[in-house]
Order: sequence, then structure tokens, then C-alpha cells
Amino acid sequence: MLREVTGIRYVTPLREGGSVPGVVEADDLGTYVVKFSGAAQGRKALVAEVIAGELGRRLGLRVPELVRFDFDPVIALGEPDEEIQDLLKASGGLNLGMDFLPGSLGFDPLVFTVDPVEASRVVWFDALIGNVDRSWRNPNMLVWHRDVWLIDHGASLIWHHNWPSAKAASAKPYDASDHALARFSPEPAAVAPQMAAQVTPELLAEVTALVPDEWLVDEPGFGSPDDVRAAYRELLAARAADIHTRITTGRSREQQPPPEWLRTWVEGKNAR
Ligand SMILES: Nc1ncnc2c1ncn2[C@@H]1O[C@H](COP(=O)(O)OP(=O)(O)OP(=O)(O)O)[C@@H](O)[C@H]1O
Ligand SMILES: [Mg+2]
Repeated sequence: MLREVTGIRYVTPLREGGSVPGVVEADDLGTYVVKFSGAAQGRKALVAEVIAGELGRRLGLRVPELVRFDFDPVIALGEPDEEIQDLLKASGGLNLGMDFLPGSLGFDPLVFTVDPVEASRVVWFDALIGNVDRSWRNPNMLVWHRDVWLIDHGASLIWHHNWPSAKAASAKPYDASDHALARFSPEPAAVAPQMAAQVTPELLAEVTALVPDEWLVDEPGFGSPDDVRAAYRELLAARAADIHTRITTGRSREQQPPPEWLRTWVEGKNAR
């Protein structure tokens, strides 16, 4: 099970996020970004955060810790925005928390360089989870202590929005041409054997077991939360085996590598 914490102080809404997550302090003295169960994105966004985030971390990528976050709207009565109040009131009980990285900066591909091996690993991972939400317009990566951290996997695993057609949808190509790391010459096929070998049935069982039953019950077409977990496992195992053959990386003008002078300048800046 994910570690569980209880919110004790609502700090502020993060208005830049489409689902308006909140920064909330918890009883373990930690501060978390809370994705609320009452948000319009629905519980499947939380399921995707857990499966993708926990999978990514086990594949050696940096993902802040995820926790079960018990939230009582009473602690946020001081929030003046009525729409946000409605969201908080609809989110009493179990929510998803992500460790807040204080002082982190949004990733900017023009000022931060990622080495091609790391870029390849991230692109392969995003292909595995079908993540269309890590473009250069909206990178969903943070730079913290000079490292890149992956956040916001709520829009991944998109095929789970329609299980009857999930297999067919999952077999489609993954277009990485808009990916935030496209300019760092990723070669996902080169890292695929090493990455795919780690996606074992045991690993998928461990990761899917972390999804709370509450977010899987009563899924149409399934008898139990474990049946839904099995469907996630089956799809991810199949994708791990061959997704590298379906990744397209056609580059648009914006993703051309930066000119040499800019690269040198950026590297000098990062080295300081
Ligand atoms: N763990 C974190 N530590 C610090 N800041 C964070 C963290 N997670 C998210 N943020 C900040 O909050 C913003 C919104 O978070 P996130 O992208 O997860 O929310 P969202 O509602 O899913 O957004 P989107 O509009 O991209 O779908 C991020 O862009 C980032 O600035
Ligand atoms: Mg985001």
C-alpha cells in the first residue's frame, strides 16, 4: 500500500494545473501537491498517476513520492474562491498526494540539457504509458537540485477510458515528435531491451497493487478491482515488448537541435 498521510493545513491552489491541485501540509510534517478525487478529470487520472508514477520510479526515473492523502475539507474553509471550495468539498476522504519539491523550476528545454540516454529512457517510458502530456509546450517535468523529475501522469494510459477498445487503441503508434525531450536526440529503441526487461509480471503486479480499490470498484465490464488490475498488467506487458517499434520521432522545426553556440552556452551555464 502507498504510505498514508492526513492533511492538516491547506496552503494554496496551484492554478497553473488544469485540475487545480492544492499544496497541502500533512501530519508527517511533509508538504504535498494533492490531486483531488473530486476534480473533473475523475478517478482514472489518479489511477494513471499511481500506475505510471510508481512504474517510472521503479524503472530508475525520478518521480516524487506518491501517498494516499486523507483530506478533510474543513481545513480549507479559508479558501475564498468558490469554484475551488466546490472542488475541495467534493474531495473529502481519499485523494492522491505527491511530495512537493520546494524551489523546483518548470523544465525548459532551452536552458536545461538532458543527456541522450536519459532522454531515450524518458521517451521510451512515455511511449509505454501512452503519455501525450510531456510536450515542449507543457513539459510536466521539474528541475530540482539540477535533476529532472517527472510529474503529472494523469493523462497517460488513455486507453483505460474505453476498455472494450483498449487493445486496439494501445496498438496504435506513439508520436514522440512533440516530446519535450525530442531535441536531445532520444533513441528509445536503443534503450528498449534494457527498459523492457525490467517490466516483469512481478513489477506490474507490485505497481497495480498500489492503486486503492476505491478507484477501481464498479468499473463497467469487470467483476472486481483485481480484474481491472489484471487488464492494466496485460496491456502494459504487451506494450513493453514492442512499443519501441511504433514510436515516431519526426521532428518539427521547433525540435531541431539548438545551434552549436546555444548548446555551448547552455552547457557552460549548467556546469556553473
Ligand atoms: N511535486 C511537485 N512539486 C512542486 N511543484 C509541483 C509538483 N507537482 C506539480 N507542481 C506544480 O503544479 C503544476 C500543476 O501540476 P500538474 O501538472 O501535476 O497538474 P495538472 O492539473 O495535472 O496540470 P495539467 O494542466 O498539466 O494537466 C505543475 O506545473 C508544477 O508547476
Ligand atoms: Mg501539468
